[in-house]
Amino acid sequence: MLCFILVYFIGYFMDAMAIDGATNYPKKPNIVILMADDLGFDDVSFRGSSQILTPNIDAIGYQGVILNRHYVPNLCTPSRAALLTGRYPINIGMQHNVIANCDPHGLPLNLRILPQYLKEAGYRTHLVGKWHLGFSRKAYIPTRRGFDEFFGFYTSGMEYFENVDSVRNYTGHALRRNETVSNEGRGVYLTHVLSDEAVRIVRNHNVGIPLFLLVTYNAPHTSVKPDPESLEAPKEEMDKLMYIADPEVRAHAAMVTTLDKGIGKIIAELGQKKMLNDSIVIFYSDNGAPTKGLFSTRGTNFPLKGQKDTMWEGGSRVVATLWSSALEVRHIVSNHLIYNADWLPTFLALAGVKAPPDLDGFNIWPTLTLNLPSPRTEIIHSINTAHGVSSLYYRGWKYVNGSTHRGLYDTWLGSAAKQTNPLASKYVDIVRGSPAWKAFAPFALKHLKKKKIKKIRKKARIECQEKLPYATECTPLKEPCLFRIDEDECEINNLARAYPHKAHLLANIVEGYRAKMVDPVNEPADYEGCDPAKHNGVFTWWLDVDKSSNK
Ligand SMILES: *[C@@H]1O[C@H](CO)[C@@H](O)[C@H](O)[C@H]1NC(C)=O
Ligand SMILES: *[C@@H]1O[C@H](CO)[C@@H](O)[C@H](O)[C@H]1NC(C)=O
Ligand SMILES: *[C@@H]1O[C@H](CO)[C@@H](O)[C@H](O)[C@H]1NC(C)=O
Ligand SMILES: *[C@@H]1O[C@H](CO)[C@@H](O)[C@H](O)[C@H]1NC(C)=O
Repeated sequence: MLCFILVYFIGYFMDAMAIDGATNYPKKPNIVILMADDLGFDDVSFRGSSQILTPNIDAIGYQGVILNRHYVPNLCTPSRAALLTGRYPINIGMQHNVIANCDPHGLPLNLRILPQYLKEAGYRTHLVGKWHLGFSRKAYIPTRRGFDEFFGFYTSGMEYFENVDSVRNYTGHALRRNETVSNEGRGVYLTHVLSDEAVRIVRNHNVGIPLFLLVTYNAPHTSVKPDPESLEAPKEEMDKLMYIADPEVRAHAAMVTTLDKGIGKIIAELGQKKMLNDSIVIFYSDNGAPTKGLFSTRGTNFPLKGQKDTMWEGGSRVVATLWSSALEVRHIVSNHLIYNADWLPTFLALAGVKAPPDLDGFNIWPTLTLNLPSPRTEIIHSINTAHGVSSLYYRGWKYVNGSTHRGLYDTWLGSAAKQTNPLASKYVDIVRGSPAWKAFAPFALKHLKKKKIKKIRKKARIECQEKLPYATECTPLKEPCLFRIDEDECEINNLARAYPHKAHLLANIVEGYRAKMVDPVNEPADYEGCDPAKHNGVFTWWLDVDKSSNK
């Protein structure tokens, strides 16, 4: 009990310190976010699968912390909006669908976003990769919203060898450097191009000022051509994975291993440049893998239920690893609750910036650095009136009402990876030989023996709960379901009938959020206006085209 009280007060104290901007970093840390697109919960090797070896991503977690309960909105645009605003999508009109390439709306302009705060605090701010928060007007694009430099695409994705994207039959050039159309990297695999750009930024960075680097990879999202389920990977990487019989599974795996190598290169450069001692590095996926249906990869969230764009854990509980030179407790698996809207207030505290009082995110720095309980006890995952769905996490319970895609994905999709990389027997050596590991190793609090690494890996594994005799089948299109999610991570045991008061309580909390949420800002697509054929073959800010030069 005394111990608990002590921990509580230390937590309180740390929190007060962090709010004042006084943290255990000697100066404003470099903030590096490396984001995957549609990576599955089981598509990395730290969780035990040896089909796809991801030594660099794993090294971040072993040297730092594996964030085992890191949640995000279950879809690309809402997820990125939550990261950059520190708010729930339902509170900023971003809850419904993604912003498709010809949609005229964008992330509302009255919202101040992360790079704007950090720029004001003296950071040099960079975005490399995908934006996907609107571009119909110039005011929406990243270089008008706090990013000093941009290299990437505003659209929902891009082909991996050509700098183009498509929506329906409208195809256009998508790659830009700052605001200018760029032909760089044509014919080179996109993941390499983005990694090399991030490495270049680190190499050229003036270490006298803090860096904010957001790298939003397209991988392992599908390519757009020849169909929305196309998987493109470098041939030389595919050739190394011949133990995977199915060429599509192999292509997906090669997309992930190429991503992992890029991450290794960026971290190695941060090490080379002696920047790691003042850095926080996070890797995570914007949402879970789409195993079936539109844009399906061969990624898997197994044994979690569901997938991207569903209310299930497979959509919103994502792979996440973090490293920081200021972690006082590290080399652990953290099961504390984190939501990606928490990053903004956390970074603002580290940068000494006062956060606005009405954010939905929490400063989780004490949770990260001391492994203290999270200040977060609930997450409103989704309220989507158009889809008739809602989902809430509340103090160990999860409530799900309604379903997306007519309930097609209300089950466990994919399976545990079955084909083992023949090198898997050397897993620990491979992790310890990775560029990320080598860069982090000088900071380790202790020598990590093989046994310790294996132990951490085991702790990150998901063990599904047994079927309980008093649970009922979950059919969320008919009636709401309730799970004791902290123990029933695979959403097997619907307890809505067994605990009707609890179900009622959570339904009421959802209604509380519903009463305060704002309507989606979505507007119908404007194919006529956006059609790249009318703008020199380029996806551009079509509503502003007359007012500004557009190449
Ligand atoms: C992009 O913009 C930044 C900030 O204005 C500038 O420093 C940089 O040189 C620009 N890059 C290019 C290629 O124009
Ligand atoms: C795309 O073009 C094809 C061939 O011109 C046409 O048949 C099809 O209806 C078009 N699809 C859409 C969604 O516009
Ligand atoms: C479940 O969602 C539906 C559709 O939004 C709504 O009509 C219903 O009231 C909800 N059920 C509960 C118990 O809140
Ligand atoms: C990190 O910085 C601290 C404080 O300046 C220093 O004592 C330590 O040796 C540095 N660590 C590494 C690995 O460079």
